[in-house]
Amino acid sequence: MKKSLILVGTQWGDEGKGKIVDFYSKKFDAVCRFQGGHNAGHTIYKEEEKFVLHLIPSGIFYDHVSCFIGQGVILSIDSLLEEIEQLEQKGINLEDKLRISRYCSLLLPLHAKIDQLREDNKNSIGTTRRGIGPAYEDKTARRSIKAFDLEDNDLLETKLKSLVEYYNYQIQNIHDSEPFVYEEVYSELMQSYKKAAKYFGDVTDTLENIYEQGGNILYEGAQGTLLDVDYGTYPYVTSSNTLATSVGIGSGFPKSIYSDVLGVAKAYTTRVGAGPFPTELFCDVGQKIAELGHEFGATTGRPRRCGWLDLVALKYSAKLNNLTELCITKLDVLDAFDEIKACIGYKVNGEETPFKSRLLHKAEPIYKDFKGWNCSLADCKNYDSLPDKAKDFLNFIENFVGVKISLISNGPNREDLIHR
Ligand code: GDP
Ligand code: IMO
Ligand code: MG
Repeated sequence: MKKSLILVGTQWGDEGKGKIVDFYSKKFDAVCRFQGGHNAGHTIYKEEEKFVLHLIPSGIFYDHVSCFIGQGVILSIDSLLEEIEQLEQKGINLEDKLRISRYCSLLLPLHAKIDQLREDNKNSIGTTRRGIGPAYEDKTARRSIKAFDLEDNDLLETKLKSLVEYYNYQIQNIHDSEPFVYEEVYSELMQSYKKAAKYFGDVTDTLENIYEQGGNILYEGAQGTLLDVDYGTYPYVTSSNTLATSVGIGSGFPKSIYSDVLGVAKAYTTRVGAGPFPTELFCDVGQKIAELGHEFGATTGRPRRCGWLDLVALKYSAKLNNLTELCITKLDVLDAFDEIKACIGYKVNGEETPFKSRLLHKAEPIYKDFKGWNCSLADCKNYDSLPDKAKDFLNFIENFVGVKISLISNGPNREDLIHR
């Protein structure tokens, strides 16, 4: 039986997961998203054409790959339809390739509205304003409209009416804003569902069949470890569990947990939105990383905060995800730096401290300096052809984190990859 793989972000998201899933997909039979929602923005360059996927798995560009959205994903049907339309316009057919769990909790326009109203208030954490937090709240509070509710009209009307009432109370009384009209919410939802209905089906059984017939499955994580609702930099996190260990729940296929785990990390660090970030650079160097790395959010277009690689945080991620291998992306972005740094320890109130997410806002980084290689990595096609200084940097990462680096990405295109 072929081995399956869980791919996760090890930092604060945007590590280049989409590109790596796209690359690996050619060797897999299925790709499955298992958490998050359309807060994700996974960028893929296919023959120089740029695609940004939010809900649809990044394996969609291969004819032989079946794509799944598991029940751990919060589903905006409107966002899904928009994405399907964009892909179809570019000649990519999804009809027999995409299957979505009927057990997904739905994200409705009222979730996005309440997210935006809250973010406009003083306690903003810089969410993607897509409604992800409120939709996960509803799931836990047992208020969600599930995709399967859309097939049972009596139940749907009762549930949806009380959800609209619940949000309208907050919208009007807390935020002094325009309420939703139930009839409009209902008819818009049903119109969208009609177009999307053909994509819903059983995900658990289908994944099991693929697996039992010897197929292999790639589980595509969204966001990153430090945004995990339990183990990230709470409360500056997303509302789902982003760790590899959430794959069993989120995919609905329990044997998914027996997969290898590939962690993706940038050769430096970025973060969108508020929250602690010990290695953040506020000087020209941070600006230079942002410019060379084109560090703007794939979902919201917001500038990403940039800083040096944080190996303490990466080691924490490696442990929590039980990583079996590591992929370092965007190494080429560091081509033009005389000096490169990586954080190898923290000081809190002058004392060396191990990684504790609750103390991160007080952590001052201790750096190790590396000499830059000062040349372009664009033409390096294999590990041996990398400059020695780049190899020194990679070897240090591997030894510090204790996980083998199996893949290095040296550009945004599909072919910009070095195997090791
Ligand atoms: P994801 O959310 O983890 O899939 O990452 P994003 O797509 O949000 O952000 C990663 C960005 O870096 C995208 O614009 C990619 O095209 C780009 N990218 C990925 N790998 C590399 C790389 O090795 N080098 C460079 N220069 N860009 C890369
Ligand atoms: P991908 O999959 C980077 C961040 C937001 C905010 C916090 C909470 O592309 O790596 P949310 O809208 O989820 O309630 O926002 O999480 N965030 C991401 N940052 N990449 C992502 O996804 C993100 N998804 C959410 O910026 O700080
Ligand atoms: Mg992204």
